[in-house]
Amino acid sequence: MGEMTIQWYPGHMTKTRRMMEADLKLVDAVCELVDARIPMASRNPDIDAICGNKPRLIILNRIDMADPQMTKAWTDYFRSKGMEVVCTDCKSRKGINSFVPAVRRLLAEKLQRYAAKGQLGRPLKLMIVGIPNVGKSTFINQIAGRKGAKAENRPGVTRGKQWVTVDQGLLLLDTPGILWPKFEDPQVGLKIAYTGAVKDDVYDMEELACSLMEHLWKIYPDALRQRYQIEASPEAKGWELLELAAARRGFLLARGELNTERMARVLLEEYRSTKLGRFSLEQPPKEGAHDDRADD
Ligand code: G4P
Repeated sequence: MGEMTIQWYPGHMTKTRRMMEADLKLVDAVCELVDARIPMASRNPDIDAICGNKPRLIILNRIDMADPQMTKAWTDYFRSKGMEVVCTDCKSRKGINSFVPAVRRLLAEKLQRYAAKGQLGRPLKLMIVGIPNVGKSTFINQIAGRKGAKAENRPGVTRGKQWVTVDQGLLLLDTPGILWPKFEDPQVGLKIAYTGAVKDDVYDMEELACSLMEHLWKIYPDALRQRYQIEASPEAKGWELLELAAARRGFLLARGELNTERMARVLLEEYRSTKLGRFSLEQPPKEGAHDDRADD
């Protein structure tokens, strides 16, 4: 398991940026993997600044776990920002074959320039980046048709740069760039924890489950109603919902108290395994939300 422990220390960002800048010089484009369920929280907050004008491709990964409608909305959103988007399920290989064509679209001008100079075989070079556990190693292995390589969850980027051939004309940096999410934002930490990408000892299980329950009750109430047979007001708090579900499941302690800890584990497990459903926890920002005063 590629779980990450939460750690943040000053100077880290500078180091990541410095190492990435070195790798950036070697590549034509940056391909960033994000978790389709939380495409914002699973991004590095500095990635746009670090990448500057480098062509960018977003890989919305784990689409098998995300809400298909939300994945579509996120695809449109990133495209509206001028990025190419590929949606993948690296476990089943779904979407993997659309990667190479997307890279060629993204770098079409560069390919034309190479062709004009007679450099037809000149390869395009790419790097894959993303936060720990987002699926980078699995993606690289699928794209390159190999098995077993595993990225270490260490900050910074590649050591001893090696290239993997993906296709005639396409090379990937062998080791993905590992970036950190915006952990100083508590909401970001929680969302990443819901997905199981951080070690479960970082958060209190019951508190984590309560806040997930409350979140889901706002956006997918019918799924909770159906699976746990609960009913409550739209403003119900996470604790109330967790207790209702524990009661319905008959999770009791010896003295007859509700075993909310067991219910917390069940909820997290059922969310993470998609038994509860395919739920995305973030929607794209509404375009123009910041431009309201433009006409004033
Ligand atoms: P990393 O290099 O970015 O740290 O991530 P890695 O590829 O190790 O992937 C982390 C986990 O996520 C792996 O599961 C991997 O199989 C799984 N995964 C990657 N992409 C997808 C996807 O599109 N859909 C689903 N459902 N899972 C994905 P693991 O539990 O560590 O191992 P295993 O269960 O595959 O044995």
